[in-house]
Amino acid sequence: MSPPVALLLALLALQPSLMVAARDEVDTEVLFMPENCTQKSKKGDLLNAHYDGFLAKDGSKFYCSRSVKEGHPQWFVLGVGQVIKGLDLGLTNMCPGEKRKVTVPPSLAFGEKGKGPVPPNATVVFEVELYAVSRGPRSMEAFQEIDQDMDKALTRDEVRRYLKLQDEKTGSGSQDETFYNKVVADVFRKNDVNGDGSLSVKEYNVYGHDEL
Ligand SMILES: *[C@@H]1O[C@H](CO)[C@@H](O)[C@H](O)[C@H]1NC(C)=O
Ligand SMILES: *[C@@H]1O[C@H](CO)[C@@H](O)[C@H](O)[C@H]1NC(C)=O
Repeated sequence: MSPPVALLLALLALQPSLMVAARDEVDTEVLFMPENCTQKSKKGDLLNAHYDGFLAKDGSKFYCSRSVKEGHPQWFVLGVGQVIKGLDLGLTNMCPGEKRKVTVPPSLAFGEKGKGPVPPNATVVFEVELYAVSRGPRSMEAFQEIDQDMDKALTRDEVRRYLKLQDEKTGSGSQDETFYNKVVADVFRKNDVNGDGSLSVKEYNVYGHDEL
């Protein structure tokens, strides 16, 4: 049991009225911690992980990321509802290379109805191995990288330049101009809410993390 949980339980013992709230807590247990932690995960980060899901009541496995999508680890943005709430909460402050066991009550997992192989009102346990943590595509780090003239607004040219740069970096090769024009038009159509031809911090950073 990790110290914060022990502390929490000690506090709860003193305040029985809080026992009800404890049912809606996620319990995390570190199974492996790498020697060096390069970057701890936080809301809005892009994570790459493998995870196995088990039912708490009998330990049966209902999900294994190694057996879907050709066994590639899954990518998801943390803290924005791309995974169940319990994982959004249970995978924060986690290091690349770390392994965790996360026990999630039904209210933060698949609820009163359940889903697919998960029955109604089921507590689930995930064993997660985290491979990579990177500042997400909507992070302030990314915004500042795109915003070349640092005026806190992204123009079409800045976004186009950034997209090309990313393609060069990942080695996927540059596309033709028509491609970038299409992507940029799409980005602005979806994000330039006030239609002024540039993206403000607020229009870009839709998850509202990492305030400048
Ligand atoms: C951890 O970091 C130290 C200091 O930078 C380095 O000497 C060591 O090799 C690293 N360990 C691992 C397992 O990467
Ligand atoms: C699930 O839990 C809720 C709330 O405790 C309860 O009302 C409901 O009957 C339960 N459903 C099943 C299938 O057990």
